[in-house]
Amino acid sequence: MAEAAVKKSPGRGRFITFEGGEGSGKSTQIKTLAERLGAAKLRAIVTREPGGSPGAEIIRHLVLSGMGKLLGPDAETLLFAAARDDHVRTVIEPALNQGIWVLCDRFSDSTRVYQGRLGKVAPEFLNAMERVTIGDLKPDLTIILDVPVEVGMQRAAARRGTRAPDRFEAEDIRFHQDLRDAYRQIAAAEPERCVLIDANADAGTVAANVWAALRDRLFAAGSNVVSA
Ligand code: TYD
Repeated sequence: MAEAAVKKSPGRGRFITFEGGEGSGKSTQIKTLAERLGAAKLRAIVTREPGGSPGAEIIRHLVLSGMGKLLGPDAETLLFAAARDDHVRTVIEPALNQGIWVLCDRFSDSTRVYQGRLGKVAPEFLNAMERVTIGDLKPDLTIILDVPVEVGMQRAAARRGTRAPDRFEAEDIRFHQDLRDAYRQIAAAEPERCVLIDANADAGTVAANVWAALRDRLFAAGSNVVSA
């Protein structure tokens, strides 16, 4: 049975978050990983933040429209927190408790980086929000996709086509450089949870590195999942 080969409490699903700046390729990599876990007979869902549950998707619409920006950084952070609270309670925790793996496109590191570093929201405020929304729910693994800002912005613009940039895409290049630095600092500060992966490579190479991170961190030695 595949789950028997997973390290630590095999009954519970694993929680994997993907982080990175604009155009870092998170959605492509999450999709590939979900397919690979499926092929290894592990049940997995893909979800995202802000959003991922009906209530949180409504808040997503509000923040990405720029409405949160009008309220100021603290209130905008509260909107992200409200969305996360609903998402954790109604989607993430129930799935993990059923042994389902959860692959989440952005999570609390995004708040730390975007609102904390860039919006200058106080760490005590962010800590309080985390206690309320996620409690002890720490990701088992966080993949941080790292890409030079110019490359990421070009990819994001190509993907967007004629659509207008959203609230955060519209920020200047300096903002995106700070974002990248902040993610790299998180990866350096929490090496047991985070893996920084060079995303300035073809999607296949990045996917192989993501899989290697899971193999090293989450699967027991000799597991048949590894070669799946
Ligand atoms: P999205 O279209 O999902 O962007 P991406 O494809 O880059 O993941 O938009 C989500 C935006 O919201 C993204 O710019 C980051 C921002 N964000 C925050 O500022 N704080 C948060 O806590 C989260 C989860 C996202």
